[in-house]
Amino acid sequence: MRKMFVAGNWKMNTLAQSAVELASGLAQVVPARLANVDVAVCPPFPFLSAVGAAVAGSGVDLGAQNVWFEKPGAYTGEVAIEMLADVGCRWVILGHSERRAILGETDALISKKVNACLAKGLPVILCVGETLAERQANQTEAVLNTQMAGSLAGVEASAMAHVVIAYEPVWAIGTGVTATTEQAQSAHLHLRKWLESRYNPAVAAATRILYGGSVKAQNAASLLEQPDVDGALVGGASLKVDDFLPIIRAAETARKS
Ligand code: 13P
Repeated sequence: MRKMFVAGNWKMNTLAQSAVELASGLAQVVPARLANVDVAVCPPFPFLSAVGAAVAGSGVDLGAQNVWFEKPGAYTGEVAIEMLADVGCRWVILGHSERRAILGETDALISKKVNACLAKGLPVILCVGETLAERQANQTEAVLNTQMAGSLAGVEASAMAHVVIAYEPVWAIGTGVTATTEQAQSAHLHLRKWLESRYNPAVAAATRILYGGSVKAQNAASLLEQPDVDGALVGGASLKVDDFLPIIRAAETARKS
């Protein structure tokens, strides 16, 4: 049985004080690890340590939004895997569509990052998803295939225990437009079948596939009820405890086979 996972991607939001307030508020309402749901928050780099301290001992894990794949050294402006581990990160988001589109990250670069994190024991939330133009051109599955194959190049089946996939249709991110439950389920099932053919049925059955894109309290339950939706990667609605908590609660009660 796959344990649900709800992660907050704070993106480039919060300042030192608001980050700690948000983290402390979450730690208060999720004081211990939940039986049915893993919970994580991914603040901006400067606030990782403080947020880590605020959620320490609670049911909320710490994650980062990006990393560089090389070992510590002369890479001005970058952050190493060792540094994330050192401040208590248990997750790192890789391949987010904003990094693909705005920062020019390619599947080849993302795969270097994925492999480096897995080699160093840092679990990965790998994001994939099509643009609106790609969906309208019936390219969704082809785009997902390309992103999965490229981003997971060199990743063995045994390492997949430390990979979570996030399906984030680009057209649903920050737009208020959510994929329908049918669209989400269909893409998630496609990704699971891809995992089965690239790896094996056991990897496909065990890998968690999160949905991301305008998830909020109002739509979380119906999305999370889909058989192949194993949680949510939440942007805007993760920035307030009152918005994020209902999504966690929806995951707690969502049916899972
Ligand atoms: P929104 O929830 O703000 O649409 O963002 C989704 C996302 O990109 C999470 O990584």
